[in-house]
Order: sequence, then C-alpha cells, then structure tokens
Amino acid sequence: MDQGPRRAESVRVVQDRSTPLRQKVTIVGAGNTGATMAQILSARGYADVVLIDIVEGLPQGKALDIAEAAPWARTSSSLLGTNNWDDTANSDVVVVTSGVARKPGMTREDLLSVNAGIVRSVVTEASKRSPNAVLVIFANPMDAMCHVALEASGFPKERVVGQGGMLDTARYRTFIAMETGTSVKDVSAWVLGGHTEATMVPLVSNATVGGVPLTQLLPADRVEAVVKRAQGGGAEIVGLLKTGSAFVAPAVATIEMVDAILLDERRILPCCVMLQGEWGITDAYVGAPIVLGKGGVLHVYEIPVSDSELAELRAAGAAVKELVAATPKG
Ligand code: 2OP
Repeated sequence: MDQGPRRAESVRVVQDRSTPLRQKVTIVGAGNTGATMAQILSARGYADVVLIDIVEGLPQGKALDIAEAAPWARTSSSLLGTNNWDDTANSDVVVVTSGVARKPGMTREDLLSVNAGIVRSVVTEASKRSPNAVLVIFANPMDAMCHVALEASGFPKERVVGQGGMLDTARYRTFIAMETGTSVKDVSAWVLGGHTEATMVPLVSNATVGGVPLTQLLPADRVEAVVKRAQGGGAEIVGLLKTGSAFVAPAVATIEMVDAILLDERRILPCCVMLQGEWGITDAYVGAPIVLGKGGVLHVYEIPVSDSELAELRAAGAAVKELVAATPKG
C-alpha cells in the first residue's frame, strides 16, 4: 500500500553530554542563518541544540552535515534536527530565524505581513513548550517582530529580545576599521535605534578607535559615508548575493547574545528591547545598550546621545509603532 512520502526522521547526534551545566537552545528555521547558528553553537559544546523547520528533511540534513564536520573540526556537539515541536520542550533560549528573507530592491518592512504570520505561529508553538525560555528574535522586520513575539508568547518583556543592533553594530565597527585603516579590535561604536535602513542610528557622538574620537580620525564627509554604509549594510549584501540576505555576521552576532544569556555573562550589548521611558520612548521595541544575562534583559541603559541622535532614536520608536499598527493581527 502506498504510504505516501516517507516522513523525515529526526536526526539526533550526541557526542558529548558530560557537562552537567548543559542547557538547551532551539533554533527555529533551518535556512542559512539558522543552520549557521546551529553550527557555531554546537561547536561551542556547552548546549544541546535543536534545529527545527517545517520543511521535512531540511533540519535533519543540516544537523547531520554539521555533526559530520565535528571530527575534523575537533568539536563535540549535541544537536537534533527535527520537524516536531515537542523536541524543543524546555529550551532555555529559543532563537526565531523563520520567515522570508529580502530579495534585491526589497526593504525589511516589505516582509511585514508574511513574516508576522510565521513568527506568531512559531512563537506560539515554542512558548507553549518552553514557558521559561528567553526568545531571541531575528526575523524581519525585526523590531516589529519583537512586538508580535511578545504578544504571541505572553512572556514578560525581559524575555523577548531582538538582535538587530548586534549585527548593525558589527557592520558599523567593520566599516570604521576599514575606513580608518585600523584594527576592528580597537573600534568602540554602537548602533542603536531600529533595524531598518530608515531607523538605524549609528552613534557618532561616542564612537572611538582606541579612545580617539571618530570625528578626530575622519573628516565629516567620511564619517557620514561610514554611517550610511552601516545603515545600508544589509541591502549591500542582498544586492551582491541576489538570492538572499547575509547570514554569517547575523549568526555570529546572535550567538553572542545566546552566549551572554546561557553563561549569564551580563554583557552590555546593543539589542532591541521594549523601552519604557528611555529617551522619552515608551512601549516600543528599539535598540539600546542592555545588560544581557540569565533570564534575558537585566537592565537598559539610557546613555547620553547628541540632540540629532536623540531625535533619530525617537523617530525609530515612532516608526516601529507605525509598523506594529500595520501588522496583520492573528
Ligand atoms: C541583515 O541586515 C538579515 O536583517 C538582516 O542582513
């Protein structure tokens, strides 16, 4: 009798479960970004990783490929590729990468309707099974998707955090290093605000290289060029790749957050959080320096910014509220 297409089995690869402190991370979406996150995280060896996707065979295949790299990569991994939500139960962190990526010419905001439905559905499934998890939101438009995830999960705002500023800050620091001909290790600079081209706020007022103000190192027009390049950093990659968006820097940036949460590192990092009065912005997910550790967002710092940066941050808050108002309800 025809059984129909054979369902893909879950693939579980366990090479080292000896660490008593092991925690569990679910990565939702086994596309380029999710799979790269799973690869990085499983190589660190301190967490059990579950990679879940709706497409049968995809998370299983990616998990097996990553596991097969471990012997030569000299890593120990414990990861599971699955289509079954029950396998995600009791995760400490759930990273949501699912959704459609941009094509050339599209803005992140263009993804609002399609990705809102996907994010709502996966967050509902995940949060039911992992009621104490911290949700790390990657899907675009990321700031608005944080609002969707907050509502769908019913979690406190401290346990729903978005990654945008991490990636945008990495790009800004990279471009500053390229433009000044210095080591990226010495660049200290932050991107706050939203994770859209129009709302990203690369701070110039406190950007330094080795303690030297950026404005002393570069003429004003070059500073402006670096700021613009950071704001368009995602589109620059989409324009080059043509069939999808960046995934290596996004994955590394997001796993830095997962590390901070799982290891309770209490890092001060630029992440997207629900503001409650900081810079005069209320009830909007906007990028800000936060303390990230066990349990999620431990503190939000309202750091000093210039008058023009303040206006841009407030505009970012207003813009995300408009996107939220335009988001189709579930
Ligand atoms: C980016 O900026 C995917 O939004 C992500 O590349």
